[in-house]
Order: sequence, then structure tokens, then C-alpha cells
Amino acid sequence: MSMSRMDFTMRSMSMRDSDPRNNKPKTSIAKLYKKLLGHAWVHKKYLLVAALAIVTVTSLQFIVPQLTRYTIDEVIPGGIYSPLIWVALGVLGSALILGVCNFLSTFMMSNVGQRTIYDIRNQLYRHIQSLDMSFFDRNRTGDLMSRVTNDVNTLQQLITSGMVQIVTDVFTFLAIAIYMLYADWELALLLMVTFPLMAWQTRVFGTKIRSQYKTVQESIAGVTDHLQDTLSSIKLIKSYSNEQYETDRFSVRNEKNRDANINAVKLYSTYTPVIDFLNYLGMAIVVVFGAFQAMRGRISIGEIAAFISYLRLLQNPIRHFSRIINTVSQAAAASERIFEILDTKPDVTDKEGAVALPPIRGHIVFDHVKFGYTEEMPVLRDFNLEIPVGQTVALVGSSGAGKSTIAHLIPRFYDPQDGKITVDGYDVRDVTMESLRNQMGIVTQDIVLLNGTIRDNIAYGKPGATDAEIEEAAKAANAHDFITSFPLGYDSPVGERGVKLSGGQKQRLSIARALLKSPQLVILDEATSALDTESEHLIQGALARLLVGRSCLVIAHRISTIQRANKIVVMEKGQCIESGTHDELIAHAGRYKQLYDLQFPQAKPVRESEEGARGGRGERGQRGERSSMRSQVGAIS
Ligand SMILES: Nc1ncnc2c1ncn2[C@@H]1O[C@H](COP(=O)(O)OP(=O)(O)OP(=O)(O)O)[C@@H](O)[C@H]1O
Ligand SMILES: [Mg+2]
Repeated sequence: MSMSRMDFTMRSMSMRDSDPRNNKPKTSIAKLYKKLLGHAWVHKKYLLVAALAIVTVTSLQFIVPQLTRYTIDEVIPGGIYSPLIWVALGVLGSALILGVCNFLSTFMMSNVGQRTIYDIRNQLYRHIQSLDMSFFDRNRTGDLMSRVTNDVNTLQQLITSGMVQIVTDVFTFLAIAIYMLYADWELALLLMVTFPLMAWQTRVFGTKIRSQYKTVQESIAGVTDHLQDTLSSIKLIKSYSNEQYETDRFSVRNEKNRDANINAVKLYSTYTPVIDFLNYLGMAIVVVFGAFQAMRGRISIGEIAAFISYLRLLQNPIRHFSRIINTVSQAAAASERIFEILDTKPDVTDKEGAVALPPIRGHIVFDHVKFGYTEEMPVLRDFNLEIPVGQTVALVGSSGAGKSTIAHLIPRFYDPQDGKITVDGYDVRDVTMESLRNQMGIVTQDIVLLNGTIRDNIAYGKPGATDAEIEEAAKAANAHDFITSFPLGYDSPVGERGVKLSGGQKQRLSIARALLKSPQLVILDEATSALDTESEHLIQGALARLLVGRSCLVIAHRISTIQRANKIVVMEKGQCIESGTHDELIAHAGRYKQLYDLQFPQAKPVRESEEGARGGRGERGQRGERSSMRSQVGAIS
């Protein structure tokens, strides 16, 4: 691995994987439980049945030791045989009811668990969908995927298996403890001497284990994140022969997960013997003290046998305790990560009382807009722009000038920090996002096709569109011919991210998708940049017809694409530096003229052509030829 690659690895790792020391639990277990129970309470019917079954199981556990006591203290000394059959039937009957109730409690609780998890996972997905673009800028896709899959799975373990155990154990523990206090409070209190020690140990370990599990959940998110990131960019990896490099990076992340898990197990395995020891200490005290009492004749042999039976029953919940703490800690860490998302409120939302935007004419105004993706880095400063109804306004300017940013602000992917954007006089923040976005057709710079057929992809913006409408849109986008050349035509599946299509074909599909909505406002961000001159020419022609009476914002680097626009705005560092029609800007001889001359060198005075001739058919001469072809292309009018 070269040094620079190492640096990159180190930097990216430190950015993505958080330090376990920062993983101190932020919310109390009680609060997390309250939230979780709030979710589970929806299915109270099942909870009730499960609770009843658990109470029955606990109560039945009392009966067997009582029968033992009765046999030892009453039946044997009395030498009567007849009650023995009842004792036997009692034990068997208890066992039968125990079996049914155990089934009911496990089945009902698992039912609640699965239903709760289904609800949480759906709610999480719905919530993620409702969050704004800045949330997705801040959070990594792989990490979000991991929260919806791995973290929810961990929670599932707690609810389905852990919950039954916890409820059973708590019931058993309380019932037995109360009975023991009633039967022999001295012995019972002696046994409980060790409880405060156990509670203290649990608290200490619980916090540590929980923060360790947060690290585990984060490290598995790191693995998912790496998978998502690299498998979706496999072409890049292969083209730079970086398979080994990525495998090494993956191994580092996988190692983090392994170590985090090992550390968690280490903590857990230290805790279990400590609790066990304290438990046996309690038992030793009881046995010794109980024996003293029995020898002095203060309690009967039957009583001490029953007491020891209860003690053994009491031992189960205590022994389970460390296992439960482990499950609970794991679930608490996972639910913290889940609720972190559920508690995130989007900055861009429909404000209260937002009205539906009535059908628009398409008058867009940027009024002294200030915007930056982060507060410290303003992208637009005091930006003003007007798109009159039915006109095409074009944006040109160097890369990073803020052109796409302007396209992002109209549909409210982000809100400006200052100033306002209006559509037909409505501040975009006063209307519902759905009604606003439904009236726009947007072709973004990075084209995305979803898994499905070509038809599905075009119809995405207008579910229920007829085949005729889809075909018409495809024809307008000059896509119909290439689509019908596929054996399956419109039903051809478009593989993951549309890999089976060329860049230009994808662009044409996304134009068809936007046109199908027949929107009053069209935003095209480098929508034809990947097309050859001829295709672009054809699309421009179709667009010119379709866009009559509609407003359009076109962003393009190629001057040929935008030169027929009603108004061209030249942007530099987030500000408009020139605007006018193509002819006005050429006459103005400013930045636009400079860009034009760079793209059409042959249009310059003779001196440069001579240079070209002197250099033979150099690169520049060839570029001029290509550009002159483009200049023939009609743009949107
Ligand atoms: N999601 C984002 N988060 C933070 N900064 C961003 C984000 N998108 C863009 N930027 C920054 O905002 C500035 C303007 O970006 P923008 O995409 O608007 O440029 P552009 O004019 O469209 O460039 P190009 O012609 O290359 O597409 C750039 O400095 C960029 O780094
Ligand atoms: Mg851009």
C-alpha cells in the first residue's frame, strides 16, 4: 500500500468510525424501554395473554415445592398412602399446565416482538424517507442501511426471546422473594445481603457493556457501509485495479467488528462469574444459617427443603440476570442508534397550515437569496433571478459556481438562509412540498435509474401513465428508437443503476421521465451533456415544441445548448455577473464572450486560424470543427 493510500485509509477510517470512548450511553435504559414498550403496547392483546401465561407459570412453580413440603412433613410421618396419588397428579397436572402456558408466553411474546419490529422498521424507513437532503449529506448510506437491518435485528432478539425471559424472571423473582420473606424473613433477608452488591456490579458492567455494544453496532455499520460504497463503485475499483486495496480496507473494518465483539464478550464473561460468586455466597449463608435453625428445631426439615427448592428457583432468575443484561445492553445500544434517526427532525418540512400550490403558470423569482450547504461556506450570496412565465432562462458559469444549487432550491431540497424563492408569488416555504414538486419536471446532473423496466423508469413520475403517454414522452426525448431496438422494448429490465444503458441513453430516459409529467416548470441540469451532437439536436427540437408556454431553467456548459434561451445568466462564485440574450452578451464582450471564444475558437479573428493552420491539424483545429457542428444546433426557444 502506498503512503498516500495509507493516509487516505487512515483519514477515511477516522472520519467514519467513532471512537468507543465517545460511546457513553446518552439515554437511560428506562427511557429506551419506555419508548420500546410504547411501541409494543399497540399489541396489548397479545401482551395480556403472554402476561397471564407468565403469571400462571410462576404461580405453578410454587406448587411443586409445597407438595414436597406436604409429603415430607405430613404424609411420610403420618404413614398414610392415599394422598400420594394426589401428590403425583398435582405434579403432573402442574407440568401439563406449565407446558401450555410456556407455549403461550413464548408464542405471544414472539408475536408481539415480530409485530413491534415490523412497526419500528416501517416507521424507521418512513421517517428516513421524510428527512431532508441535508440529512443525507450528513449520513452515510451504508450506516443508514445498517440501522434499518442490523440494529433492528438486534432489537428483535430482545423483544422476541429476551422479553419472555425478563418478564418470567422478574415475576418469578418477586413472587419467590415475597414468599420467602413471608415464610422466614430472617433467612430471606440473609440471602438478600448480597443483592446490593449484585446491583452495584450490574450497574458498573451494564454501562461498560452497553457502550461496548454501541461500538459493535457501529463497527458492523462500518462493514455495511464499506460494502455499499465499494460494490456500487465496482467499475471504479476494477479500472484502477484496486481489488486488493479494497479487500485490505474491508479487512480492517471487519477486524474492528471482530475486536469490538471480542471485547464485549470479554466484559460479559467477566461479569457472569462475579454475579455467580455473589449468588453462591448468598446460598452458603442460607444453608449454614438454615442448618443452625433446623438443628435448634426452630424450623422443620420440610420447611428447609421447600426453602432450598425456592432458593434453587430463585437462582434461575439471578443466573439469567447476566445473560439478560447482555441482551438488554445490546438492544439498548441498537435502539439508541434507531431512535437517533427517529428523533431527527427534518429542517425542511411543510410548515403548519401550508397550502397546496394551485396549478402554476411558472413565474419563478429568487429574491436576495443567501444559501450555503453549511453556515460557514456560503454558496449563493444575495442572489437574484427571475424566470418569467413561459420563458427559458439558462445558467452558465464555471464548475462549482452554484448552478445546480439554484436548481436544488426551487423544489426545496434545501431552504435558503436568507431571502426567498417564489413560484407565481407563493413563497415555496408556504406551500406543501408535494404540490410544489408535482408541478416540476427535474432532470438532475447525476442520473439515477431504479431497478425495473424501462417503462417503470419513465412512468416513475406519473404512476398510472398509459403506454401511449409513455411512448410519446420517449419519442420527445428521442429515446423511442433505441428502446424499441431492444428485444424486450419498453419491458427491458434496467439493471442496478441502469448499467445496461449508455450515458446518453440514460439521459434520454430521464428526460422522458420528466416530460411525462407534462410539468409547467422544467429544470434541466446538464440534461444533454452526454449526448452526441445529432441526438442533442433532435432533443432540442422536440423540447422546443414541448416547452412552448412552459417555464424552463436550463443549466449547461455547452454554449450551443443554451444560446437560444430567452435569457442567459452567467454565474461566478455564487453570483450573477452578466445576463442577457446570447447576442447581447457577445456584444458585451465579457465573461460569456470569453467562454464562447473558448468553445468556438474558429469564430475568432484570422490570427488564431492562422495559428491553427501553422500547427497543422492540431487538437485545437479539430475541436473547432466539432464545435462548429454544435453551433448549428437549435436550442430551446
Ligand atoms: N451537498 C453538498 N454539500 C456541501 N457542499 C456542496 C453540496 N453540493 C455542492 N456543494 C458545494 O457548493 C458549491 C456549488 O456547487 P454546485 O453543484 O451548485 O456547482 P455547479 O455550478 O453546479 O458546478 P458544475 O458545473 O460542476 O455542476 C461547490 O463549491 C460545492 O462544493
Ligand atoms: Mg452542477
